[in-house]
Order: sequence, then structure tokens, then C-alpha cells
Amino acid sequence: MSSQKESTVRTLMVALLVCLVCSVFVAGAAVALKPTQVDNRLLDKQRSILAIAGLGDPGMSSSQVKEMFKGTVSAKLVDLQTGKFSDARDPLTFDPLKASKDPKLSSVLPGAEDIASIKRMERYSTVYVVEKNGELDTLIMPVRGYGLWSTLYGFIAVKGDLNTVVGMGFYQHAETPGLGGEVDNPKWKGQWPGKTLFDEDGKLAVQIVKGGIDAQSPQAVHQVDGLAGATLTSKGVDNLLNFWLGENGFGPFIANLRAGEA
Ligand SMILES: Cc1cc2nc3c(=O)[nH]c(=O)nc-3n(C[C@H](O)[C@H](O)[C@H](O)COP(=O)(O)O)c2cc1C
Repeated sequence: MSSQKESTVRTLMVALLVCLVCSVFVAGAAVALKPTQVDNRLLDKQRSILAIAGLGDPGMSSSQVKEMFKGTVSAKLVDLQTGKFSDARDPLTFDPLKASKDPKLSSVLPGAEDIASIKRMERYSTVYVVEKNGELDTLIMPVRGYGLWSTLYGFIAVKGDLNTVVGMGFYQHAETPGLGGEVDNPKWKGQWPGKTLFDEDGKLAVQIVKGGIDAQSPQAVHQVDGLAGATLTSKGVDNLLNFWLGENGFGPFIANLRAGEA
């Protein structure tokens, strides 16, 4: 009886010890890998920015991406309330997504204005700028908004005229592969370069059209085909672009930059 009790206690002790040792290993691995994870996330974002801005090529190694990004792209902080560049934070370390969850650095968006379904809006954001011969060559702005199942996170890049699209794409989402996930299809993304965001009156005119655009229409230059079988994701992308390029997003900043007053 007593030896049976002893063996049960011993079994429990061994199990506890194994659990303890394993949890130390798992916690240690999580802590040790954290910097690598942060580095890889940054690298992924940089690779995505370069691709959307039409710089480099997809086969670039990690060190080539880092080198090209450092040598070509500058991060700048924008105050979304004033629509002007700001030095209130360091653009290299400032994280607009983290800021959007901080009540001191963001505000709740009223439902009627929240067409991208992001709930909170950060005061400052980071844009990326490519300059050539001292002139703005490409402006890359972060965009995000809800599709059908998930928030899509991406960038839109425009030329120095602040109107012609260089590229648009997402680096993170959880839409269904083959349906909403077709936002990553190079053929769909290939429709964006050359499109213009604003019409002749300076009004935001970018649009995703269900069923496909009419190439003969004067509006076609602002439009891209909706994704077949994924109208809800397409509508989400249309909404998020109209939000971030509009009055509550980068609209005032784009207007100030155009007027030389950013
Ligand atoms: C399992 C499943 C996954 C779906 N995933 C998506 C999706 O990621 N994006 C989307 O817009 N529609 C998705 N749909 C379809 C939507 O429910 C809806 O039918 C569709 O957006 C309507 O688009 P359509 O008018 O082009 O057919 C999915 C449907 C099913 C059954």
C-alpha cells in the first residue's frame, strides 16, 4: 500500500519536472526568437514596400532588401490631423498600428466615418518617400481596412504627381485563398500601376467595380476590376482606399504636399 502511494507520488513528481523543464525550454525559445521575429516582420514589410513601389525584384536576398531599403527609401512621420510632416516621433521606431490602440495616440472613429471598419484612428502615421534629384519620385502610404474575414494591411504607392498609382498590395490579411485572397494575385495587382486616384476636379475617384470595368468609360482610368466571387473583399478594399486617401486619412496631407505646404 505504502509503496503504491510512493510510486504515484514519484510519477506525479516526474511529470511535474518534465512539465517544468519543457516550459523553461519553450519560454526560453520564445524569448530568444523574439528579436528574430521582429527583424523578419520588418524585413517582410520592407520587401513589400519595395515591391509595391516597383523597386528591386522579388528574388532579392534579405541583405539586398535591407541595403536597397536603407539606400532608397526614407520613412517620414505625418500628423494626420494637420496633414503635415511632423517630428513629434521618430519615424524609424514609431509604429502606427500600435499607436492606433493607444488612447493617448489615437481616437475612436465615429461609425459613419469609419468606412474601412478600423474603429480607431492614430494621430500620426509613417509614410515612405523615394526621392530622385531632390524631387519626390514615389510616395508610399500605409492602408488598412476590413474585408470579409480580416483586416487587410498594405500600402499604396503613387508617383511624384501624387495621383498616378505605382502599385498597391497587402502584406497581411486572412481572406479566403482563391476568393478574397486573390488580392495577392499578380494579375489583379497588375491592374493598379498607371491608374489615377483623382479626377480632373481633384475629387477622389478610385473605385473597384463589381463585374469588371468598362474600358471605354472615361472613369476606367480610376477603376480596377472587382474580384470574381469575392465582392465583399473587393468592397472592403474599395472602402479602405477611399478612407485612407480621403479627408480622414492622407487626403489633407496629399493636398498640402501638392501645394508645397506639407
Ligand atoms: C467558405 C467561403 C469563403 C469565402 N470567402 C470569401 C472571401 O474571402 N471574400 C469574399 O468577398 N467572399 C468570400 N466568400 C463569398 C461570400 O460569401 C459572398 O458570396 C461573395 O463575396 C459574393 O461575391 P460575388 O457577388 O462576386 O459572388 C466566401 C464564401 C464561402 C462559402
